[in-house]
Parts: sequence; structure tokens; C-alpha cells
Amino acid sequence: MLKLPIFGTGLFLREMAYSDIPRIYEIASTPGFCFNFLTSGNATKEAIIDSAEHFMFEAYETKKPDPLTNLRECYKLAIVEIANPQSMVGFISIDEWSERRGKKREIRYFVDPREQGKGIATEASMLLLDRFFEVSSFDHIAASVQPGAPASQRIFEKLGARPAGLQTVTVNGTPETYVEMSLFRDDYFKATEKLRPQKPAARRTLGFMFL
Ligand SMILES: CC(C)(COP(=O)(O)OP(=O)(O)OC[C@H]1O[C@@H](n2cnc3c(N)ncnc32)[C@H](O)[C@@H]1OP(=O)(O)O)[C@@H](O)C(=O)NCCC(=O)NCCS
Repeated sequence: MLKLPIFGTGLFLREMAYSDIPRIYEIASTPGFCFNFLTSGNATKEAIIDSAEHFMFEAYETKKPDPLTNLRECYKLAIVEIANPQSMVGFISIDEWSERRGKKREIRYFVDPREQGKGIATEASMLLLDRFFEVSSFDHIAASVQPGAPASQRIFEKLGARPAGLQTVTVNGTPETYVEMSLFRDDYFKATEKLRPQKPAARRTLGFMFL
């Protein structure tokens, strides 16, 4: 089980709360927002409100452990900036944490379009994946890049993911092709080494002491 909240240097991840619904609606209504699990195509205001409520209902449902495995199936978490802790800036999840036959563990996220490009999804992914690989015995996680989401593909690549194939699914009657990626534990830690804050150079400090 994960200990929440998870704190990083600029962000923290916490459980979602019903009080996040207006913020989810606001993010999903912002021009440029695209996350197929919440909005698709020209969703109406009512459809977005419905999706935001359903989204939150799912987040609450999945807080309970699976009665068969006694493990929690999903972690659906709010991304919050430490400097602005009142409201979430995005969302991140790992689904199928516990092993269910035929299901793959997958990471998903979205960030408020007005806050994109600041490294939020990268930091949030690392906070969650560090814990995932630390507390679980799984050696990899899947990621699915939705069509027209180059930023998402770029993040997975930065984290060390490898392309694993293409998958075509039908969304609202329209076929859409996703890039499937796999992120292995060793690749992840190797790739993210250079993204982590550098520790003070011990040798240089020591040399300084001897001067
Ligand atoms: C994907 C998403 C979460 C990224 O959030 P973010 O906080 O802006 O991401 P980051 O700032 O951490 O990193 C974005 C990276 O993509 C790059 N990028 C942004 N737009 C890009 C584009 N059009 N083409 C290529 N790379 C792009 C950025 O330069 C950055 O890489 P860098 O650090 O090497 O410069 C956000 O764009 C989003 O919410 N998209 C819609 C939902 C989605 O696609 N979710 C993923 C599917 S599960």
C-alpha cells in the first residue's frame, strides 16, 4: 500500500476529494484540454460535468481494497503545487496495481492546460513511479499515448519507456490509434538519474576542507 500524501520538492500527490469536482470541471473545460477518459470531441457542458462526477466517483470507489486480493486496485491522485495547496493542478493514476489476470498496470495523467510545460507531469510521474517500484514487485508499467499527444510521449521517453506497439480502439464510433509503451524498472531509474536534483559534490567539499 502507498503512504499518502507523497511530497516532492514542488508538488505533492494526495487522494482526490469531492471538493475537487469544480476544479476538474474547470480544467476539463479549458480550451486545449484533451483527456479521453474525461472529455472527448465536442463534449457539452452537461457531459463534462457528468464526466467530472463520474471520474470522482471512480476515484472514491477505487480507494477500497479489492475484496479478492485485499490490495488496492488503483491510485487516482490529485497533483497539487506546494506553493498553491488549495487546488489541484492535475491528476495522475496507476491502474491495476494489484495483479488481475489479463490486466496491465498503466499510468495516466493530465495537467491544467494553463500550467503545462513547467515539468509538472514529469515530477508527478517520478513521485508516483519511485513509490510504485519501491513498494511493488512489478518490473514494469504500461503507458498508452493517445493520438495527438506528443507531450505525453515525450514524458514517457524521458522516463525511459520503450515503444511496445500500436493499439487501435474505437472511441465514440471513431477508431483511434494509441502508441503503447512499456517502462521497465531498471530503464526508469537509469533514465531519471539525470533528472533528479544533484546531491552536493562531496569530494569538492572535502577538498575544500583540506585546503
Ligand atoms: C501530457 C501532459 C500531462 C503533460 O503535462 P506537462 O506538465 O506540461 O508536462 P511536462 O512539462 O512535465 O513535460 C512535457 C514535455 O513534453 C514536451 N512537449 C510539449 N509539447 C510538445 C509537442 N507538441 N511535441 C513534442 N514535445 C512536446 C515538453 O517540451 C516537455 O519535454 P522537455 O522537458 O524535454 O522539454 C499534458 O500535456 C496533458 O494534460 N495532456 C492531455 C492529457 C494527456 O495527453 N494525458 C496523457 C495520456 S494518459
